[in-house]
Amino acid sequence: MSKLILIAGGSTLVYAVLAILMGVLPGAALSRTPPGPGVVPLTPLQAKGRDVYVANGCSYCHTQQVRPLAEDAVFGRPSAPGDYAYQTPELLGSERNGPDLTNVGVRQPSEVWQYMHLYDPRSVVPESIMPDFSFLFLVVPRAPDGVTAVPVPKPFAPKHGVVIPTRKAQALVAYLLSLKQPAIPGYHPPAAPTSPTAAVQGAAAPAATSTFDAAAGQKLFAANCASCHQTSGLGVPGVFPPLKGDPVETATDPTEQIHTILAGLHGKTIGTVAYPGQMPSFAAILHDDEIAEIIDHERTSWGNNAPLATAAQVAAERAKTAH
Ligand code: HEC
Ligand code: HEC
Repeated sequence: MSKLILIAGGSTLVYAVLAILMGVLPGAALSRTPPGPGVVPLTPLQAKGRDVYVANGCSYCHTQQVRPLAEDAVFGRPSAPGDYAYQTPELLGSERNGPDLTNVGVRQPSEVWQYMHLYDPRSVVPESIMPDFSFLFLVVPRAPDGVTAVPVPKPFAPKHGVVIPTRKAQALVAYLLSLKQPAIPGYHPPAAPTSPTAAVQGAAAPAATSTFDAAAGQKLFAANCASCHQTSGLGVPGVFPPLKGDPVETATDPTEQIHTILAGLHGKTIGTVAYPGQMPSFAAILHDDEIAEIIDHERTSWGNNAPLATAAQVAAERAKTAH
C-alpha cells in the first residue's frame, strides 16, 4: 500500500514540478514581457474582431508568427515577444494553408478588399481555396443610411439586393486592419538577394541594356498587385482599376507610376470612376529593383507597350519623396 502511495505521490510530484517549470513559469515570465515600441492595445471593436477570428477558425489556416527565415521575409520582419503584449493568448497558429497574417494590415489595408475577400475570396483571388464567410454578411434590398454596400462583382453577387457587412464582419475587418508590425528601431530587413541571372546579365551586358527579367516581374506582380488589379490586368470593375491601357501605365515618363507604387493612392478618380478602394504604399515592402521589374512587367503586358523603367529611376524618386 505504502509503495502504491509512493509511486502515485512521486509521479504526481514529478508531473507538478515539470508543469510548473516548463509551463507556468515561462508563461508567467512571458506575460510580463512589456509591449514593443509602437505596440498598442486593441480597441473594443478590434478585440471583438479577434473573437470572431477565433470563433471562425481562421487560425486553422493562418499563422501569426514570422520566423527569422528568408522564406518568411515576405510576411514582414521576424516577430518579437513584445509584439504579443496585448494579444494573449497568442494566435500563433501552426498551419499555413494561407499567408501569415501578422502584418496583413500593412500588406492589404483596403477595407473594401477585405470585405470582398471575406464574402467570397474568389471575387478578388480567382484561384483561392479559402472558404467564403458570406454568413458574416446580410443581403438587403438596399443599404441603410450610413452603411456602404460591399461592391461584390456581378458573378459573385446575389441575384437581388446588395451585400452589407454584419457587426461581426465589421469587427473582424477592423481586427485584420489592426495587424501591423511596428518597426523595431535599429532593425533593417536583409537586402533582397540579387538573382544569379541578374548578376550574370549585369556583368555581361553593357550598362545601357535593360536587365528586365520578365519572369521575375510577373512573379512580383502576382505576389503584390494581382490581388486587386488581377493577373489579367483588368482589375475589378468599379473597385480596382484596370492597368491594361491605363494612361499612367503607358505614359512615356514612368515617374507617376513609380510614385504611385512607392506612396500608394487613395480616392483618385480615373477616367469617370471614383475608386473606393485604397492602394497600399509599397515603399517599405519592395526594393527599387523589384519595383522596376513590376513596372516593366506592366509596361509590356496585356497589350501595354511603353518604355521600360530602371531601378535607378525608382531610387531617384524614392530619394525625392524621402520614402
Ligand atoms: C481552409 C483554409 C483557410 C481558412 C479557414 C481561412 N483562410 Fe484566409 N486564406 C487562405 C488561403 C489559401 C489564402 C490565400 C489565397 C487568398 O488570398 O484568398 C488566404 C488569404 C487570406 C487573406 C489575404 C492575405 C494576404 O496576405 O493577402 C486574409 C486577410 C485572410 N485569408 C483572412 C482570413 C480570415 C479572417 C479567416 C477566418 C474568418 C480565414 N482567412 C480563414 C486559407 C484560409
Ligand atoms: C489593395 C488593392 C491594391 C493593391 C494590392 C494594389 N493596388 Fe494599385 N490601385 C488600387 C486602387 C483602388 C487604385 C485606384 C486609385 C485610388 O484608390 O485612389 C489603384 C491605382 C493604381 C495605379 C494608378 C493608375 C492611374 O491611372 O492613376 C497604378 C499605376 C497601380 N495601382 C499599380 C499598382 C501596382 C504596380 C501594384 C503592386 C505593386 C498595386 N497597384 C497594388 C488598389 C490596389
